[in-house]
Amino acid sequence: MAKESLSITDNRTGKQYEIPIKHGSIHATDLRQIRTGPDDFGLLSYDPAFMNTAACTSRITYIDGDKGILHYRGYPIEQLAEKSTYLEVAYLLIYGKLPTKSELDRWLHDITYHTMVHENIKKFLDGYRYDAHPMGILIGTVAALSTFYPDAHNIFDQRSREIQICRLIAKMPTLAAMSFRHSVGQPYPLPDNDLSYTENFLNLMWKATEVKYAANPILAKALDVLFILHADHEQNCSTTAMRCVGSSHSDPYSAVAAASAALYGPLHGGANEAVLTMLKEIGSKDRIPEFIKSVKEGHGKLMGFGHRVYKNYDPRAKIIKRMADQVFEVTGRNPLLDIALELERIALSDDYFVSRKLYPNVDFYSGLIYQAMRFPTTMFTVLFAIPRTSGWIAQWLEMLGDEEQKIARPRQIYLGEQKRDYVPIEQRR
Ligand code: CMC
Repeated sequence: MAKESLSITDNRTGKQYEIPIKHGSIHATDLRQIRTGPDDFGLLSYDPAFMNTAACTSRITYIDGDKGILHYRGYPIEQLAEKSTYLEVAYLLIYGKLPTKSELDRWLHDITYHTMVHENIKKFLDGYRYDAHPMGILIGTVAALSTFYPDAHNIFDQRSREIQICRLIAKMPTLAAMSFRHSVGQPYPLPDNDLSYTENFLNLMWKATEVKYAANPILAKALDVLFILHADHEQNCSTTAMRCVGSSHSDPYSAVAAASAALYGPLHGGANEAVLTMLKEIGSKDRIPEFIKSVKEGHGKLMGFGHRVYKNYDPRAKIIKRMADQVFEVTGRNPLLDIALELERIALSDDYFVSRKLYPNVDFYSGLIYQAMRFPTTMFTVLFAIPRTSGWIAQWLEMLGDEEQKIARPRQIYLGEQKRDYVPIEQRR
């Protein structure tokens, strides 16, 4: 039988090493024994941007990027999108199993009753300029929550942890909607405990003078499906930030703020906003060939295309594309959809995109739905952060319970100056 190991010959010394292979990987610290002499630190692996490095083992989300497969805790994303709800999926991600009826009832109750935020949060909001980006506000206010709940620092206290988890999932929509209401100068409505998670979020966003806000059920359901699709995506940039910050044993609010900051960037969760900006700039179908040409010449990217892991159609984008029709029946068709469809058609028949395996990702169509639902583009990344919170929490819990994990601290390969003496300013040239 073939041996599960790797034989290495170090041509510098002629020495041979046998390194075990486990789960299709070698342990990077096993390379340290490969040394040229006693003063040699040992061989390092160099992997900027973690292109080929697993930093953890995980049992949460499985992706097969070549086949376009996504599972949460073993359940295919297509089944969850069709049959589950966002809060049930959040439970699944965090606790590793689908809840029983009584567990789900308790979970929904606990989330519902933690949706209010301290009145002082309003004072923070007053400090932001009228045109502050809602994502900047969300990052600031979620970080501030840790100051309201000092017990959150007890991250190894099971009961405290459970409460912070409920608070985070419950309060993210409240903070998100407040960040929007601030930008339009409207009062902050109270959460409504009679409503589902997404209905309540829509209530917090859009309630005006009516006594009770009633969300359109098709839109509330569509948003719930979008939340399921965005809930986790294994070791992406923001989840890595969550694990990295959490590894120093920060409280979960601070770690979620860090993860949200990573999500904010246009190469990650900010891409859905960038897609809409791009579609608006293109403006009409006849300008698409010119735009594609400029992308191929290296002037910017086709936003909403490409993925580090998916080298096939993103399964989430497929579901969103299908769902768009149901939403547009309620809201009216988003005129930018025609540009997006034509852009996809042209890109997928162009060798530049085909040879690089660049397909639409989750952000390509989600923004069109959000826009049709009246969300301003600045809210798009916020709409990503709300559901991703459950994934961040699941990954954080897994990291804290993993005996192999320690504070994250990568190595570097130093290429700078060797020791040299300080030069007084008058002698510098
Ligand atoms: N448009 C044009 N060319 C692209 C694009 C794109 N969207 N994405 C990648 N490429 C090219 C890239 O220039 C490179 O070409 P070459 O080999 O000639 O140098 C090749 O494809 C490989 O790309 P890469 O930059 O090595 O790929 P990566 O894994 O480092 O980047 C990515 C992944 C998602 C950052 C990138 O595809 C991108 O910037 N896409 C646009 C932004 C976007 O839609 N982001 C959302 C990602 S999905 C949601 C999420 O997870 O946050």
